[in-house]
Amino acid sequence: MWIDLLQLINFRSYGKRSFRLKEGTNLITGPNGAGKTNLLEAILFASTTASHRTSGNSKLLREGEEAFSVKAGAFGRKGRFRVEVVYRKGSGTKVRVNSSPVKRESLLAGFPAVMFSPEDIDVVKGPPSGLRRMFNINICQLCPRYTAGLIKYRRALQERNTALKKGGTAGLEPWTGILRKYSEELTGERKRFLERLGRVMREVAEEIGLESPPEIHYRPSRYRESSLEKDIEAGFTTWGPHRDIFIFLESGRNMRDTGSRGQARMAAILYRVSLWRMLRESSGTEPVFLMDDVFSELDPEKRRLVAGCVSARQTLLTAARPPEELEGKANVIRLR
Ligand SMILES: Nc1ncnc2c1ncn2[C@@H]1O[C@H](COP(=O)(O)OP(=O)(O)O)[C@@H](O)[C@H]1O
Ligand SMILES: [Mg+2]
Repeated sequence: MWIDLLQLINFRSYGKRSFRLKEGTNLITGPNGAGKTNLLEAILFASTTASHRTSGNSKLLREGEEAFSVKAGAFGRKGRFRVEVVYRKGSGTKVRVNSSPVKRESLLAGFPAVMFSPEDIDVVKGPPSGLRRMFNINICQLCPRYTAGLIKYRRALQERNTALKKGGTAGLEPWTGILRKYSEELTGERKRFLERLGRVMREVAEEIGLESPPEIHYRPSRYRESSLEKDIEAGFTTWGPHRDIFIFLESGRNMRDTGSRGQARMAAILYRVSLWRMLRESSGTEPVFLMDDVFSELDPEKRRLVAGCVSARQTLLTAARPPEELEGKANVIRLR
């Protein structure tokens, strides 16, 4: 897939702005604060209806505005199509494809994008909450069933927590049973995703000659006999996928404790490259590849390595100044 036209209205620093993009490499340059990351974030938002930087969509609204939209024209497997994602305070996010309203799930598979950003490194080295959020967004991209399951789970969790807040066991049923069922479904999807991811990560690691690739350890949080008592005491649900633990391991050691920034960077690259390949397989089209600030974060060797592992129809890179290696090879978009 590749995007030829991008239109932003009230997205972060943008009032109203259009961009013409080309197939191949697009370089977005401009000084710090010019809106380079915002532009990539807008594409990722149109692809996933979520931001990699914030969980609240209202933060993406240009200050003082009530609604924003990201529109894109793109070429996919079946020719050109148009995508429009609109967020309005109070009524949430709405998606249209070729002017017809569609569910979020149907967009996720048809408009795939993957981004590598410096923030990934902090996520890999960070607490489970960041990893849960990252994996949730990416499993949703790969598996529409997971998106639906996550929505059901969150609703049931809210109902059960409301009952727990009121105290006692009244109103807890049927929510415990429902939540346990939805939990098992999500846990199963997460396991399948991580198994597939592990295989692809090992495959990529072998291609690039990385001897002991990082692994991801998954510790699901499950309902136990003692859970009910614990929940009543705490006043909220203390188990379930919203409490699952994910850990990036380097030679069997938790990267959060021992990993260097270099190791975490390598793990993040491997993750994004693998995700790109998985998404290509499930969507049947090459996802757009977005690379934020890679020239400050990755040395030339690692950049070549990424380029060798990802054969995107379209790549968007950001850099404060146009790097020599791209001279004459990229469509340059200057922001100021
Ligand atoms: N919701 C928002 N409303 C208005 N401006 C915003 C919003 N969010 C971020 N910005 C502005 O966007 C700019 C940062 O843009 P960014 O894309 O991160 O820059 P860079 O080119 O360095 O990547 C900052 O000036 C920031 O104030
Ligand atoms: Mg930036």
